[in-house]
Amino acid sequence: MKQKLVVLTGAGISAESGLQTFRDTDGLWEGYDVNEVATPQAWSKNPLLVQHFYNLRRKACLEAQPNAAHKALVELEARYDVVIITQNIDNLHERAGSSRVVHLHGIITKAQSSADPYLIYDIEGWELKMGAKCEKGSQLRPHIVWFGEPVPMIETAADLASRAHIFMVIGTSLAVYPAASLIHYVSHTSEKIIIDPKIPPVQGLTNLEVVAEKAGTGVPKVVKQLLSR
Ligand code: OAD
Repeated sequence: MKQKLVVLTGAGISAESGLQTFRDTDGLWEGYDVNEVATPQAWSKNPLLVQHFYNLRRKACLEAQPNAAHKALVELEARYDVVIITQNIDNLHERAGSSRVVHLHGIITKAQSSADPYLIYDIEGWELKMGAKCEKGSQLRPHIVWFGEPVPMIETAADLASRAHIFMVIGTSLAVYPAASLIHYVSHTSEKIIIDPKIPPVQGLTNLEVVAEKAGTGVPKVVKQLLSR
């Protein structure tokens, strides 16, 4: 039976595809106030600004291409039972060819009804416009988990983390909960590998290897090691 390998990714894995991270010095939250664009209150107050912010993100995501890190993770499937848990709203893991991707914070290519979060639709092109409505007549909003909203996939993710033989963390500051808590669900006997040029502060972890490198070089290196075992 294949070993279970669970990967938690963050904005850093898509940085070399040209997508901005959030908290680095040139990150998105330097240019935007998170409260003005990524909360339910922002949507109530200024839906046009929120739509515009996510339309720009969608455009950038559609123009971006998977990089060496996204592609290397696909190779692991030959040898391991791989699931990727991503905080990213881009679809670069899927476009690289990964078969199991759990989106903790939603996905930019889909819209949801502002009245019923379970009514979800694909968005054609990069622009979601005001006036686009769900079948019940409510305005469509981006299918994104905003700050202050529940994270419906967290239980699935925690269960996956608790059963992982190997848990990799790539390109995340581990600043946002509950995603940041997932590494603590991993068994103390399981292997943990963190790949990030700036290793996030984590305490009390056993069996931890850190690779202080960019994803584009660090991930292919680690994947090669894992495949050669
Ligand atoms: P952050 O912007 O907080 O962290 C990005 C991480 O990527 C940092 O640890 C960087 O050191 C690292 N990094 C930068 N360049 C890299 C590279 N080339 N290769 C590897 N790592 C690199 O982004 P996240 O941790 O993903 O949520 O942020 C978590 C959540 O906060 C996001 O999902 C988003 C945001 O607000 C929502 O919008 C709900």
